[in-house]
Amino acid sequence: MQPITDALQASIIRQQLGAATQWLHDIQVFAELDSTNRWMLQQGQCGEVCLAERQTAGRGRRGRQWESPEGVNLYLSLRWCFAQVPKNLPILSLVTGLAVVDALEDCAITGHGLKWPNDVYYAGRKLGGILLEAVGSLEQIVIGIGLNVNMLPETGAAIDQPWVSLREIHGAPMNRNTLASVIIERLLARLQTFPQLDVAQFQQEWQRRDVLDQRPVRVLSGSHVSEGVACGVDSQGQLQVRLRGGSIKTFSSADVSVRM
Ligand code: BTN
Repeated sequence: MQPITDALQASIIRQQLGAATQWLHDIQVFAELDSTNRWMLQQGQCGEVCLAERQTAGRGRRGRQWESPEGVNLYLSLRWCFAQVPKNLPILSLVTGLAVVDALEDCAITGHGLKWPNDVYYAGRKLGGILLEAVGSLEQIVIGIGLNVNMLPETGAAIDQPWVSLREIHGAPMNRNTLASVIIERLLARLQTFPQLDVAQFQQEWQRRDVLDQRPVRVLSGSHVSEGVACGVDSQGQLQVRLRGGSIKTFSSADVSVRM
């Protein structure tokens, strides 16, 4: 097992928070959970954050498993309660992605971006993923973020897609408490203003971070495959793809890969 160099500590994460403390209910750190999202869905409070050193049944998108080895990555969930269902709710997971990439930039990471809908990417490899789950009524959402931080290749050998860690990008291990606190800060700030989201501004921000923009893509939606050129997201956060004839097709849920 890879040695743990910086155990997660709620007090350190909280200490490093700025203005966001006012919107935070509590931070809990667990040595092990099946899934931080599952825990938050069942017993989290509004504005509460939980992290686990290890997940035994980490959840990924589309029912996939999220590999969650001990002590080397971030597995973080936040429960957020809106006063009413925000009209742009389908965009929330993409806005969460913007919060994560901004947080990484705050930590001097560059060259990363977002692959629609929720992947944090670096040079064609996955650095992190985001999974939103609703708590029954849609005003309450659990936002789950998984980020490869200090995981070494041998520790992540079971991951079935190309991946990268911050340690590899940065050239040295990164402090997970600091990262957690910067991510929470950025995320809470975005959540505060989300009900008044300026969609046009969101689309511009997305375009700046979009690793698929103007790339030839293959989109798997159900059992149907489409090919074209990715051209951003629409006002509902749906992926837009220009097909060969020039028409634009939009996707609300799909798996996308870049065609070589
Ligand atoms: C994806 O498939 O890309 C989404 C991965 C989301 C993983 C995170 S880890 C913290 C939180 N708890 C979970 O069980 N899943 C999310």
